[in-house]
Amino acid sequence: MNEICINTPSSAYPIYFSDNFEDIINALKKFFPSDRKICIVTDENVNKYYGQTLLEIVSSAYKEVYKCVFPAGESNKNLNTVQEIYKFFIEKHLDRNSLILALGGGVTGDMAGFAAATYMRGIPFVQIPTTLLSQVDSSVGGKVGVDFLQHKNMIGAFYQPAFVYINLDTLKTLPKEQLSSGVAEVIKHGLILDKSYFEFLESSYDSFFKLDHEVLEKIIRRSCELKGSVVSRDEKEAGLRAILNFGHTLGHAIETLLNFKLFHGQCVSVGMVGAAYLSYINGLISKEDLKRIEKVLASYDLPVRIEELNKEVIYNQMLLDKKTKNNIIHFILLSSIGKAVRVSHVNTDQIFSAIAYIQNDVL
Ligand SMILES: NC(=O)c1ccc[n+]([C@@H]2O[C@H](COP(=O)([O-])OP(=O)(O)OC[C@H]3O[C@@H](n4cnc5c(N)ncnc54)[C@H](O)[C@@H]3O)[C@@H](O)[C@H]2O)c1
Ligand SMILES: [Zn+2]
Repeated sequence: MNEICINTPSSAYPIYFSDNFEDIINALKKFFPSDRKICIVTDENVNKYYGQTLLEIVSSAYKEVYKCVFPAGESNKNLNTVQEIYKFFIEKHLDRNSLILALGGGVTGDMAGFAAATYMRGIPFVQIPTTLLSQVDSSVGGKVGVDFLQHKNMIGAFYQPAFVYINLDTLKTLPKEQLSSGVAEVIKHGLILDKSYFEFLESSYDSFFKLDHEVLEKIIRRSCELKGSVVSRDEKEAGLRAILNFGHTLGHAIETLLNFKLFHGQCVSVGMVGAAYLSYINGLISKEDLKRIEKVLASYDLPVRIEELNKEVIYNQMLLDKKTKNNIIHFILLSSIGKAVRVSHVNTDQIFSAIAYIQNDVL
């Protein structure tokens, strides 16, 4: 079992990398004595694959282990489900010393983490992410929360886990679109922070889709390190953390307008093409770099164009983004491959030209 450490001003915690669930016992024992109550929180899909296995393994070392299962999907990431989770915690008499294991993708991690952050003013939790997106993104950084009315992640907290435990083997059951959707954030990490990582990704798509253990571990580990390095310098999103929004300004607008028909990573992929195009027309990166970025995204089966939306509608949706302030749409652009800059002077014409570009315009 390998590990790296995430240091934030409020806490420091390890991320463990393994290819099984058995090793989690060693990690748990380091933090929690065997008389602690443990509650696994997971969704119905993940429960079918891994719920029973994890329950049995944890029960071999802890006396009281429970499992709380909720229906899968973003549409259940809300306060109603959180209430059901609280009720389960109360029924099982979980107290301040109890521990929550969030087993699943980002929906589970965000929601079980939020329940842990708020139940009795906060009880410890462990992230056990099982999608690529959650392994490289949502389980690192301590953002937990739920959607409210039409607003994504509107209710939440910053709450760091005791540790993160990644069993790479869980990716074997993940549908391929989910896998490639998760890789969009991985490519983002290379683009904004690490050129040589981007270059490694350029040549690794074949082994990635074959789920080559070494390549997967390298990718997940490096992405956790890179995201960890950003959140440790800016835990509460005062500034630097904004670079993680590369591709998301446009990506979120597309995601909302398509009514979540495409996966988040697929929308972010198109959004990154738009942001790379803006970087190009502002003289920051070359045309070759723009094409290179599109090529690597496409090689991971990610879309680089989107056709069906009206330009005005996309622009107006960007104005509604919670990160847009005083009608100024802030963009994260690339000053080169591997380096990001925050820019607020992108003018409307340029934004429309970027929207035209991602809608099949050629250079
Ligand atoms: N907290 C953060 O910083 C942060 C960052 C990015 C995204 N997010 C959140 O993450 C969520 C998206 O996460 P996600 O893409 O992991 O979605 P998800 O949790 O809904 O998982 C996607 C689907 O895959 C299934 N699944 C999970 N693991 C599986 C496995 N190993 N094998 C087979 N099926 C499996 C799930 O049941 C679900 O149906 C969004 O709600 C988003 O807001 C949070
Ligand atoms: Zn994202």
